[in-house]
Amino acid sequence: MLPTPHVRCDYDKVYEPSEDTFLMLDALEKDQEFLRRFLGDKMNLVSEIGCGSGMVTTFMMHNRIPNKNAIYLPTDINPWAMESMVDTASLNKCDQNVLSPIRMNMAKSLRSGQIDLLVFNPPYVPAESVPTIPTEELSVTGEGKEDAAWLDLALLGGDDGMVVTWKLLHSLDEFLAPNGIAYVLFCARNKPQEVVKAMQLQNWSCELVEYRKAGWEVLSIYKFHR
Ligand SMILES: C[S@@+](CC[C@H](N)C(=O)[O-])C[C@H]1O[C@@H](n2cnc3c(N)ncnc32)[C@H](O)[C@@H]1O
Repeated sequence: MLPTPHVRCDYDKVYEPSEDTFLMLDALEKDQEFLRRFLGDKMNLVSEIGCGSGMVTTFMMHNRIPNKNAIYLPTDINPWAMESMVDTASLNKCDQNVLSPIRMNMAKSLRSGQIDLLVFNPPYVPAESVPTIPTEELSVTGEGKEDAAWLDLALLGGDDGMVVTWKLLHSLDEFLAPNGIAYVLFCARNKPQEVVKAMQLQNWSCELVEYRKAGWEVLSIYKFHR
């Protein structure tokens, strides 16, 4: 079993690694040989969308997933996640030369068709709506409200908990390299089987990699590629 990275992070501002995070580590560990074969030895571009504490990207860097030539471009909408990503990678003695965290919405500022391996543990909890991004004003006058808003953004996924995930899935063609692959986490309330059917109709190959009961929640990870 590959070691879980140590994390240094302020959990008042950044999502704390939880069952979903650990399930993603297990899925990537399980598929590491598959990924090596599937993506080959070339310089792969790896992007974890919503990297939070940086645990998942650090795990991939530390264990050379998908290969030793990979470059890592984790993203998050939360500025504090950028700081945590760098701290976590440094705490685990990862090579910072191959890491470039970028604050952005999804992967929208990356050149299209570039990502070989995309990983996303999204805000998947069903909610009335997806919270709005905290403003500068809230950070000055909000007395801690800004921190709570970042944590809400990490969790709440709107209708069926799928609003953010669908945005990603609808953009997969644009984000992924022609032979790229994406690993995405779902909870049962996201109705992953219906998602898979819809994606298959658009000619995506979809496969369950891992699932686990976590309390009253059932989490699963699917991989998607052309
Ligand atoms: C469930 S947390 C997962 C964090 C981390 N990847 C993990 O597994 O522990 C979701 C993350 O997605 C980020 N996020 C939410 N909406 C986003 C968006 N539109 N673009 C980029 N990141 C986003 C949140 O800030 C949060 O860090």
